[in-house]
Amino acid sequence: MAKNNILKHLAIIMDGNGRWAKNQGKKRTEGHKVGAEVVREITTYCANHETIETLTLYAFSTENWKRPKAEVSFLMKLLDNYLRKELDVYMREDVRFETVGDISAFSDKLKKTISETKEVTKNNKKLTQVLALNYGSRDEIVRAANRVIKNNEKLTEESLSAALDSPYTDIDLMIRTSGEQRLSNFLLWQLSYSELYFTDTLWPDFKSDELESIIDEFYGRERKFGGI
Ligand code: FPP
Repeated sequence: MAKNNILKHLAIIMDGNGRWAKNQGKKRTEGHKVGAEVVREITTYCANHETIETLTLYAFSTENWKRPKAEVSFLMKLLDNYLRKELDVYMREDVRFETVGDISAFSDKLKKTISETKEVTKNNKKLTQVLALNYGSRDEIVRAANRVIKNNEKLTEESLSAALDSPYTDIDLMIRTSGEQRLSNFLLWQLSYSELYFTDTLWPDFKSDELESIIDEFYGRERKFGGI
């Protein structure tokens, strides 16, 4: 194993649900449904992985509101149902649920489900699953900077980091599915030294055996963090 390579924080841009559905002659929403099953499989895999402590998943971006109204409401309902149904899995697999992003825009019902899931799972230890919801990195950084200013603190890397929605560890590995090679406003600050991996696999086809081989590849990389 190369020095400095310990995978503690994995982040994933789950992309390609719509294309998967189109390829199967199904509605886009079918892709999201299967995508939610994959979230369960990958979360369970990470909870049982010996070094992964945090898994951050891009579930809904600040730009996703631009989608047709019916798709947005489907995604909201899917998330609500997922969290309710998933509580057993969070408890069985010892997973704490957290979010990043501005959830104030969500319905009261969804906000309640989110806060209840956080409360019930708050002492779980094996993995923290962080869903990025109504998340945009620039928005997060601006809100963090405003918090620092409001507290009359000096703006430093440390004070800004601590004021982010996601005061978790830096990301070690970021995977994007579906062949797109962009960051799409995802965790720009936290990805500064992350290894990046792009796979052509569409999210509904992404399985834990592929994740395992990506992790093997990650362990073969040498991370220099600007050194030599
Ligand atoms: C990208 O596929 C996916 C999303 C915008 C939403 C992610 C949602 C899920 C994986 C399912 C629900 C998640 C949870 C946590 C219950 P896309 O629609 O942009 O695909 P396309 O680029 O092929 O159109």
